[in-house]
Amino acid sequence: MCHLRLNRPDKLNALDAEMVDELAYKCREIEAHPDVRVLILSGEGKAFCAGGDIEAWASESPEKFGRHWVRDGHAAFDALARLRQPVIAVLDGHALGGGLEVAACADLRIAEKHIKLGQPETGLGIIPGWSGTQRAVRRFGAQMVRRMALFGEVFTAEEALAHGLVDQVVESGTAMQAAEDMAQAVLQRGARATELTKMMIGAAEGEERERVIESLAGALAAGSDELAEGLAAFREKRKPDFSKGDTE
Ligand code: COA
Repeated sequence: MCHLRLNRPDKLNALDAEMVDELAYKCREIEAHPDVRVLILSGEGKAFCAGGDIEAWASESPEKFGRHWVRDGHAAFDALARLRQPVIAVLDGHALGGGLEVAACADLRIAEKHIKLGQPETGLGIIPGWSGTQRAVRRFGAQMVRRMALFGEVFTAEEALAHGLVDQVVESGTAMQAAEDMAQAVLQRGARATELTKMMIGAAEGEERERVIESLAGALAAGSDELAEGLAAFREKRKPDFSKGDTE
C-alpha cells in the first residue's frame, strides 16, 4: 500500500506546475515499484484540492498555457488514471475544479460528509481543464458535468453519492481509515488479475484502448514458442521453423 499526498495546504493544495510535474514523476515511480499494489491519494490540510492554481495559469501566455500547462497536466492526470494499481481518493476536504478532475482519476472515491464537489471554472472564465469534460464525463456522466460546469452546481458529499460522483460517504475524520480498509480488500485479491482487470475496465471506458489491446496481445506473444523460435533463428542466422508452434 502506498500513500500519495497533495501537499500545499496553505493554498488548499491548488495545483501549480511544480506539483503537476511531481505528480507525473511520482506516478512513474509507483507504476514501476514492484511491491506497490494499491495507492491512496489524499490532500494535506483542510481541502483535498481546490483546483488548478488560479494565479499560476492566469499568468501563463496563451502559447505556454497550451504547450505546458495543458499538456503537462494531461500527462500527469493520464499517468494517475492509468496506473496499473487501483487508486483510492480520500476526499476529506473540498474537491473543486482540477481537484475534482484529479479525484476522477481514482478508481474509488471516499468522501467525508462535510465536503463539497464542483467545477467552478466557467465562473472564472476558463474551461474545466485536465480532462474535466472528457474523463469526468466518462466517469460521472455528461449530465452531472453539465450541472457542475455549465450551471455551477456544487454538490454535498451525500448528493455526490446519490449521483455517483463518489462511492462512499463517511463521518468526518474517518475517510483515511475507510480507504485503508478498502486498500486491504485489494491486497486480498490476486495482484496480476487485479492489474489486468483494471486495464480492461479502463479500455472499456476509452482509457488508452490502443495500449491495453497491445499490452495483452504482446504479453501472449512474448511467452510463445514462436517468439523463442524466431529469436533463436535470428541469433543462429537461419530461417525460423514455425511448424512446431504453440498454436493448438
Ligand atoms: N488557486 C490558487 N490559490 C487558491 C486556490 C486556487 N484554485 N484555491 C484557494 N487558493 C488559496 C487562496 O487564494 C488562499 O490563499 P491566501 O491565504 O494566500 O489568500 C488560500 O488558498 C486559502 O483559500 P481561502 O479562499 O481563503 O479559503 P476558504 O476556506 O475561505 O475558501 C474555497 C475555500 C475552496 C471555497 C475557495 O478557496 C475557492 O473558491 N477557491 C477556488 C476554487 C476554484 O475556483 N477552483 C477552480 C480553479 S480553476
